Amino acid sequence: MPDSPVDIRPADSDDADAVAAVYAPYVERSVVSFEEVPPDGAEMARRMLAQPRLPWLVATRDGEVVGYAYASQHRARRGYRWSVEVSAYLNASEHRRGTGRRLYDDLLTAVRGLGYVRALAGITLPNAASVGLHEAVGFAQLGVFRGVGFKHGDWHDVGWWQLSLAASPPDPPEPSTWSP
Ligand SMILES: CC(C)(COP(=O)(O)OP(=O)(O)OC[C@H]1O[C@@H](n2cnc3c(N)ncnc32)[C@H](O)[C@@H]1OP(=O)(O)O)[C@@H](O)C(=O)NCCC(=O)NCCS
Repeated sequence: MPDSPVDIRPADSDDADAVAAVYAPYVERSVVSFEEVPPDGAEMARRMLAQPRLPWLVATRDGEVVGYAYASQHRARRGYRWSVEVSAYLNASEHRRGTGRRLYDDLLTAVRGLGYVRALAGITLPNAASVGLHEAVGFAQLGVFRGVGFKHGDWHDVGWWQLSLAASPPDPPEPSTWSP
């Protein structure tokens, strides 16, 4: 039977348990994330609703969440408020099927539409899939933080990638709040 199509839609707090379930194996069994304890649904919902509210999207097949992508504030100090970080996580069975690209196309369109100007991504190295996805949608590598994370008994490098969402406006309007 052919696969059902992937649908991309805004996430809401009802998706938080499913999003937590997608993320948990990466926390437990990889260094893709430097968290050590998988957040539960309540914590994911809190992250989704954090201020400034930024886009969270889920990818679904047959109504089941198979992956997600989201934006978060880059840094809290005022002058950074036009910069976001982005990331995506998919179930292992969903890799390399175009879903990451679909999520990112919609996520980047959403943050650009809100008035954000730069998107950044920190990637624990090596991660060919994540580097490939980011470069496929236009991110360029900035540099590498050497041995900046310790997990599972080892020190890990994190590479940083950036995408300009807009030219550098001389008088940037305040970014808007995401409302799904
Ligand atoms: C990273 C991730 C989100 C990518 O999503 P994906 O759906 O697998 O990627 P796509 O199929 O949309 O691929 C988009 C492009 O990325 C690149 N790419 C994807 N997987 C790749 C791989 N394993 N090796 C090299 N390039 C890859 C390709 O350029 C690809 O375009 P193409 O298929 O036309 O060649 C997914 O692999 C994932 O969830 N990985 C585990 C979690 C993770 O590492 N998240 C990122 C944290 S920084």
